[in-house]
Amino acid sequence: MILSMRRHELGCRGNALVLVLLLLVGTSHTHANDTAVRVPDYTAHRPTAVPDRIVLCWSGNPVTTQAVNWRTDTSVVAPVGQIAPASDGPEFASQAKTLTATTERLDTDLGPAHYHSLNFKDLSPQTKYAYRVGDGNNWSEWLHFQTANAEAKAFTFVYLGDAQNDIKSHWSRVVRGAYRDASKAAFFLHAGDLVNVANSDGEWGEWFYASGFIHRSTPCVATPGNHEYADGLSRHWRPTFAFPLNGPEGLEETAYYIDYQGSRIISLNSMEHVETQASWLETILAENKRPWIILTFHYPIYSASKGRDNSELRALWQPIFDRFKVDLVLQGHDHSYARSKLMAHENIATGVTQRSKEAGTVYVVSVSGPKMYEVNARPMMRRTAQNTQLYQIITVDGDDLRYKAYTATGKLYDAFTLRKRSGQINELVEQLPPKEPD
Ligand SMILES: [Fe+2]
Repeated sequence: MILSMRRHELGCRGNALVLVLLLLVGTSHTHANDTAVRVPDYTAHRPTAVPDRIVLCWSGNPVTTQAVNWRTDTSVVAPVGQIAPASDGPEFASQAKTLTATTERLDTDLGPAHYHSLNFKDLSPQTKYAYRVGDGNNWSEWLHFQTANAEAKAFTFVYLGDAQNDIKSHWSRVVRGAYRDASKAAFFLHAGDLVNVANSDGEWGEWFYASGFIHRSTPCVATPGNHEYADGLSRHWRPTFAFPLNGPEGLEETAYYIDYQGSRIISLNSMEHVETQASWLETILAENKRPWIILTFHYPIYSASKGRDNSELRALWQPIFDRFKVDLVLQGHDHSYARSKLMAHENIATGVTQRSKEAGTVYVVSVSGPKMYEVNARPMMRRTAQNTQLYQIITVDGDDLRYKAYTATGKLYDAFTLRKRSGQINELVEQLPPKEPD
């Protein structure tokens, strides 16, 4: 009897305690919401005299040049970069050469900024350099990059589909996952829609928040997507990056090519002047001597989604891809994953699935950000995914190109090897990992 009363009392006291705790939690929760004020984008992304948004690109030959761009506030009017071959101790710094950068003002939706650009030239092949940027008083940290080899030599790069939305909160883990798995990648390639609102300085700030530490040491290759357009190309694109000027007039830094250790990497701008680019593409493929041809552009010519077909682009560009035996096409836009078998234009024109003896290109659509569309799986696709963020690690090594796609959590999702065979189209060796049950 006494025991049961005590249990009853304890039960009452316990309930009261729980109630008090709940009230306290509820109160403190409400309290936090009442007092927390969101830091405005104007403050969160404000430039200072200290360099930020530092990004390596190639505007010239990766064997002998390396471009770097960065941002400051408008107080910085005499920007410089310093460079020296890297050493194992700090003595490289005393040997650094100082070079003057160029500056352009960019008036963004959050205010003005200065964007600076410097192209390090006359570098030695396959050499690790240390560099930093600043104004003489405010410097970046010393950073490394490595020049390319003049000859064909194995290298790895990362390919990412659209980042676009919730870039800081949701894209960060993917681009950083790629870096963890491929920290020695020669470059990261972004297939368009890096941001959602082309001229939003806050979104560009988020893009650099997520990947900025990577691109300070690992060059960026990027092609513009539709979300980099709003009444023309984003005002941020050209000040932010330093891509090559070897494309058609008016499309500089959006349509271009980079030769890297036996591969010709080509960015096409699927957003404008696509006919002009067709003839330019023919010219640069006709004179190409590199064994591997890798293309990137944003609008996929084999769409991964219903109602998003790009038949005009396919009709215009694919015959050129076929004629010059483009090996791999890396695309974005569809917010799902689809990787094709070897494709030639005849596959679609006749509805016959037999391969052309003359051509065979693998097409990929991928997505790295959190915006997700339903995938429309078709027989020509060897691997598809939806509701899955991915990154791809690609190694070009002699006659082999090894491709691996990983999910955001690092699971191998798709893999194949393309193998060059003299006088024939590539052999596609499927290495599909087992698919987890849906
Ligand atoms: Fe897009």
